[in-house]
Amino acid sequence: MTDTSPDRAEGLRMFDEMLAVHTVLRRGSDLVAAALGALAAGRPVDVRTLVAVAHWHSAFLHHHHESEDERFWPLLRRLFPDAADDLARLTAEHAELDAELKRLADGIAAIRRADATRAREIAADTAHAAAVRSRDALAAHLDDEEPVMRTLFPRTPAADIRTLRAAIVAAAPKSDPDLVIGLLTDPGPRPATRT
Ligand SMILES: [Fe+2]
Ligand SMILES: [Fe+2]
Repeated sequence: MTDTSPDRAEGLRMFDEMLAVHTVLRRGSDLVAAALGALAAGRPVDVRTLVAVAHWHSAFLHHHHESEDERFWPLLRRLFPDAADDLARLTAEHAELDAELKRLADGIAAIRRADATRAREIAADTAHAAAVRSRDALAAHLDDEEPVMRTLFPRTPAADIRTLRAAIVAAAPKSDPDLVIGLLTDPGPRPATRT
């Protein structure tokens, strides 16, 4: 029988909202890697826009991870002690990803200061590879995280979900809404689930 409780519906809504944020993150990292690939290959790239998008993506991603580590996971750990190992693994993946993102940020900072010839060399030597590793690590992390959230959110009380959502929305970075909306256009379907 299908469970149609309000708690479950609110939890599934939160899961969809998280998937939307993940879609923006996945597409943003694809975009940064593709632009650095084009720069490395000598194709025309607007470097100022590339640097701005990379900075925005990094800030957006850091906020998302912080929200999870500091707000989502403590609540879920309290409600579902059996999920502690999953949540610890996801936090460890955030830290591993941060190391890759730091290498990418260093490359982007060097490109911002360089002339056109040097910018291309930096992209070809280090920055493109760092962006590809970051993109792949992020995708693997989100693929790991989504089934865990799909299991836990529908079992979380609706009042907790609403409190969490309000806190996260209040603290979310508000810069570059055009990028958020643009990357969210035509989101993919909810992935296959395990319940
Ligand atoms: Fe997430
Ligand atoms: Fe995460």
